[in-house]
Amino acid sequence: MKDNIILIGFMGCGKTSVGIRLSYRMKRTMVDTDKWIEKKQKMTITDIFDTYGEDTFRRMETECLKELIQAADGQIISVGGGLPVREENHRLLRKLGRVIYLKVTPETVYLRLKDDISRPLLQVEDPLKQICVLMQKRAPVYEACADVIIEASELSFEEIISQILAAGDVL
Ligand code: S3P
Repeated sequence: MKDNIILIGFMGCGKTSVGIRLSYRMKRTMVDTDKWIEKKQKMTITDIFDTYGEDTFRRMETECLKELIQAADGQIISVGGGLPVREENHRLLRKLGRVIYLKVTPETVYLRLKDDISRPLLQVEDPLKQICVLMQKRAPVYEACADVIIEASELSFEEIISQILAAGDVL
């Protein structure tokens, strides 16, 4: 297994914001799979969904994990909220390093993302319902993938980072 720290969780749980801060704190580089895919495709996630559809995006996520396994060790890796759902990706996440799940409530996600237009899956008539449906499906998957689970809804980014660092013996 590689020595990366991987942040997983639902859209809006704080993976990217925590990842950036953690990477400064631990003096590690940070990779965000969405940004990685956008750079490689030279397209936004929204355009990828619109042009190629979700299945193709999911294949790009798996490709990204495979390339990260070949890449330098010791990074902080924030992955898209739907990435752990694809079964093939579980094994790849395990290979890639220790997995931290930032667990948040549907209400937290809704409040954070209700005015955000960059998440194609939430551009629906009733986003809260969509968040609840997706989260119910995904929560067991996130839990099965995780080495560490952090209840993150009520925590500041700094408090989340403290908990990650406190779990250092696990990591
Ligand atoms: C998705 C989450 C997004 C992005 C895409 C699909 C999902 O990433 O990969 O919009 O299926 O949950 P974030 O979790 O970083 O928002």
